[in-house]
Amino acid sequence: MSKPTAKVVATAQLSVERTTDLDDHDIAELCEATDAAIIEGGGFGWVEPQGRAALERHFRGVMLVPERELFIARLDGMVVGSAQLVRPHRNNEAQAFAAQLTHAYIAPYGRGHGLARLLIQKVEERAAALGHRVLNLDVRETQATAIALFQTLGYIRWGVHPAYARVRGQTVAGEYYYKLIEPGRGRRTGPMVPGTP
Ligand SMILES: CC(C)(COP(=O)(O)OP(=O)(O)OC[C@H]1O[C@@H](n2cnc3c(N)ncnc32)[C@H](O)[C@@H]1OP(=O)(O)O)[C@@H](O)C(=O)NCCC(=O)NCCS
Repeated sequence: MSKPTAKVVATAQLSVERTTDLDDHDIAELCEATDAAIIEGGGFGWVEPQGRAALERHFRGVMLVPERELFIARLDGMVVGSAQLVRPHRNNEAQAFAAQLTHAYIAPYGRGHGLARLLIQKVEERAAALGHRVLNLDVRETQATAIALFQTLGYIRWGVHPAYARVRGQTVAGEYYYKLIEPGRGRRTGPMVPGTP
């Protein structure tokens, strides 16, 4: 009888971090991941690949905007995706409780490992820690994987915009979602929606 052979299962290392400074190596990987995701079908704003220089300007700009926070996702240390948390302007006191999750994507070569789920959870945790109680997002109705993911994470669709985006000459509808998030560190500020816990 032959001896059973040991089976080595390599587990991908997933990580997500909020960043305010990226070195040249990381920004190169981020730009490559972004263009790869755009070429594969986009779904997060851009339609055409932008190239390294334009994307680097974009991300360096994002990191300078006070209301924006940039999160990057790594697979085995390599940057393969990102997302942004957009906080309301300071003059918008009435909506200070709500933030926006936007520009979330993982490059095709980083997908299927659970990174998008982790990325969104980290953005939610950060929004909660900052005191936000609602996270809003919108997505093209063609982004079936993203929509399925948002729904499993508890996002509630409240509207559809029939003229949301234009992609290669076609109008694409968009879906609007929100999620109530728990305040950080067990702080209670009362129900956000009357009649809910
Ligand atoms: C949506 C997207 C971010 C998912 O990235 P990902 O890292 O592969 O996602 P995950 O591995 O975290 O998987 C999340 C869930 O989607 C499911 N999923 C992933 N790819 C799938 C596919 N091709 N078909 C069906 N389900 C899929 C997974 O099973 C997982 O569900 P589970 O956690 O219940 O098992 C990625 O496909 C993407 O970048 N798409 C284009 C950009 C986009 O649409 N962004 C959203 C607009 S802001």
